[in-house]
Amino acid sequence: MKLIVVSNREPYRLESSRGKLEKTVGGLVSALEPILRKEGGVWVCWGRQGQKTPLETYITRDFVIKQVPLTSRDVSEYYYGFSNETLWPLCHMFINRTHFDNRYWLGYRRVNRKFARAVAEAYTPGSKVLVNDYQLALVPKLLKEKGVKDPIYMFWHIPFPPYFMLRFLPQRREILEGMLGADVIGFHTQHYVQNFQECAREILGAFYDDSAVYWNGRKIKVKAVPVGIDTDRWERLIREPKVIKYARNLRKKLSVEYVGIGVDRLDYTKGLEEKFRGIGRFFEKYPSFRGKVSFIQIAAPTRTKLEDYMDIKRKTDEIVGMIEGKFGEPGWVPIYYYYKNYGDERLASLYSMADFALVTPVIDGLNLVSKEYVVTKKDYDGALVLSEFAGVSMQLREGSLIVNPFDEEAIAESIYMALKMGKREKRERMKALRDKVVKEDVHWWLRNFLEDVPA
Ligand code: G6P
Repeated sequence: MKLIVVSNREPYRLESSRGKLEKTVGGLVSALEPILRKEGGVWVCWGRQGQKTPLETYITRDFVIKQVPLTSRDVSEYYYGFSNETLWPLCHMFINRTHFDNRYWLGYRRVNRKFARAVAEAYTPGSKVLVNDYQLALVPKLLKEKGVKDPIYMFWHIPFPPYFMLRFLPQRREILEGMLGADVIGFHTQHYVQNFQECAREILGAFYDDSAVYWNGRKIKVKAVPVGIDTDRWERLIREPKVIKYARNLRKKLSVEYVGIGVDRLDYTKGLEEKFRGIGRFFEKYPSFRGKVSFIQIAAPTRTKLEDYMDIKRKTDEIVGMIEGKFGEPGWVPIYYYYKNYGDERLASLYSMADFALVTPVIDGLNLVSKEYVVTKKDYDGALVLSEFAGVSMQLREGSLIVNPFDEEAIAESIYMALKMGKREKRERMKALRDKVVKEDVHWWLRNFLEDVPA
């Protein structure tokens, strides 16, 4: 079976300095790449503007990366515009950050057509097509119209909003109809499935039952299958001597009793301000921990051209500065804050040396950082503070310290609990978490989602 994967981001990026192709790290790539290598297939993705790679790159004889060239106008209207200034904030319930602009929509439709054309060119009967995410909602229907007869799968990686949010979108009908061109649609949680079904009923007049939507004489399966991580890869990483060495040296240099970790893209959905306020409250409430706990926060730059992202950067810088100024002392830093990207090797070191992790988005489709942290805790020595509004809390409820990220008191208390927790309780909680993450890894996800042949 040939697999055609369609995503906005590319699975490989060109390291321009060395002219080398480097694999993009991420759950989707690590799950799908081995299959594409073994069985052959095509990955259709955005072709970077000005990039020197050819539009078709052969990874193996049967595995091709096919890039869809986008103009700078496409990028501005489709990617920054409709994808990230309209759909992203709307789906994450930030109505006051949602921009409605018809030019964005026209750009989005134009680029979705470009993607569909590229997929249709790559398609041969007998292939399975997997379309990913909110940037490409129209592609499934376009593919059906182009005569693709084989099953089309679509996975929606961010929250699917409830009807009372989606109804604000002028193109709500087109988005739903576009997605319903697929034969199976996957989401991370049952809540998102329900939201989608209700939107289909309210907006299109479709019917639904537990596992499907009925629309235009077709049955479209809908299911909740949260994406997993490549646990074997993380387990290999934490055994690497340089990963162990870095962790050990850093821990020594920090010279505090406890270290906390946070890793997020710098996005307004990630609740960094709320998290820092919670940390501030912790040091205020428990002064005996001053000088004993340091928190490391990695904030990865993302969509930096957009005003909302510049705004969140300013606010985050400000609050970190405030906490440093208020609680810091010569010789002790309460929050180490890094606005940059780190590779998985470095992250593996940071996770494995941290006593607790704070994963406190105000809303998140799933959140893979929590899974990455958990899987590095082979000796079960850690604690996970987790937002109840991250999709992953449905999977990792048992074992985590669940918080409402808007409640700074609750964040402060959870940090205290994580630090005071006895060895036995820590072990029990971490074991429950780790077992779940290992069992429901990325291969589990793929088996459960992609193998589900439509009725
Ligand atoms: C997050 C979401 C993905 C989304 C990605 C886009 O990781 O979970 O669903 O596709 O952001 O990020 P980008 O940097 O490509 O805009």
